[in-house]
Amino acid sequence: LGYFTYDPGYSSTGCCQSDITFIDGDQGVLLYRGYPIEQLAEQSSFVEVSYLLLNGELPDKRQLEQFDDTITRHTLVNESLRIFFNGFHHDAHPMAMLTGVVGSLSAFYHDTIDINDPESRMLSAHRIIAKMPTIAAASFKHMVGEPFVHPQNRLSYTGNLLNMLFARPSEEYEINPVAEKALDQLLILHADHEQNASTSTVRMAGSTGTNPFAAIASGCAALWGPAHGGANEAVLNMLSEIGTVDQVPRFIEKAKDKNDPFRLMGFGHRVYKNYDPRATIIRKTCHEVLDELGVANDPQLELAMKLEEIALADDYFVERKLYPNVDFYSGIIYRALGIPTEFFTVLFAIGRTPGWIAQWIEMLEDPEQRISRPRQLYTGAARRDYTPLHRRN
Ligand code: CMC
Repeated sequence: LGYFTYDPGYSSTGCCQSDITFIDGDQGVLLYRGYPIEQLAEQSSFVEVSYLLLNGELPDKRQLEQFDDTITRHTLVNESLRIFFNGFHHDAHPMAMLTGVVGSLSAFYHDTIDINDPESRMLSAHRIIAKMPTIAAASFKHMVGEPFVHPQNRLSYTGNLLNMLFARPSEEYEINPVAEKALDQLLILHADHEQNASTSTVRMAGSTGTNPFAAIASGCAALWGPAHGGANEAVLNMLSEIGTVDQVPRFIEKAKDKNDPFRLMGFGHRVYKNYDPRATIIRKTCHEVLDELGVANDPQLELAMKLEEIALADDYFVERKLYPNVDFYSGIIYRALGIPTEFFTVLFAIGRTPGWIAQWIEMLEDPEQRISRPRQLYTGAARRDYTPLHRRN
């Protein structure tokens, strides 16, 4: 191929150097800035993890308070931005609303965005991390036809998200601490995953010098697909389609059949050829949350566990090293928290935002950074002359 390598899907192309996230796919290891995901999921908070991803080190007490305060103070969105939601049809997918409205943030902050200035970059990072839940919750309220709920400074990041999703003017809403902790943990688990499709998209868009909100909106668009962040929604749709435990073997056979487009959603990963460490954590949390919320005998959890058990004992999945990934059990938790399926990918987007923005900053600070511009193998027609319309038959 001369001076470039043909690598469809970039499975063997390193496109950047990064200090942010380490994955060992064979061993099932995931580290954010060197810290194991298991320790962060157990002991940290999403806000602290966001600080870590952005700044490279864990904050001390004062730095964390300051960061938390800054994020809290940026949660409001401009009232005219909120009005955008009225323009969406009532059955618009929340990812469609999120992608559009996040992109439009650049219309509100254009005068303070200078991508060459580190302070302006960090200000944009704080704004986007703070405003994602507000925009996401607005898309949720629009979807369910309820009035928007403003952010409350007295609540935690995740408590505030829950409040904006579920509070109604007609009744008291009390945040369930089990739900708050589980959701915070899910956000931590989604916070970064090195050069996945949406993060690469953010880097690629960002490499042109576009503004951070446009870059993050492109990440949302890439995340939406069922092979990426849309898989959590697809898993629950798949479980509904399978219906009952006795149907599992039939669907396993369908997943193995190359003439059948059906795939086991929430299974397989480009990098993990071992159990996805995030799935191990989520699986445990899933049992705990369902127990605490009193839905211990969730038939879909039972179905998911049976599916996993049969798949992991099947040569097809063993030989190809296909294990449950992060999306396999997350949807069951979201559903137990009362979140509709269409909204799952939006939660993934909120979680991935600190990763996207940290990678965007890292890319801009990299002295080797150039515009992302892959090459291609041209397979089309050779040179030919234009035929005027009246002479074509
Ligand atoms: N069900 C059945 N067969 C599968 C599956 C699956 N879920 N995943 C991969 N395979 C087979 C595939 O057909 C291929 O078989 P063969 O070698 O005989 O042609 C082999 O395994 C390798 O798969 P691939 O498609 O070449 O792998 P990839 O790295 O291009 O794709 C993936 C990775 C995640 C897109 C894919 O495994 C998949 O579509 N999984 C289901 C969707 C999903 O759960 N996505 C979430 C990914 S994790 C969270 C995230 O990043 O958003």
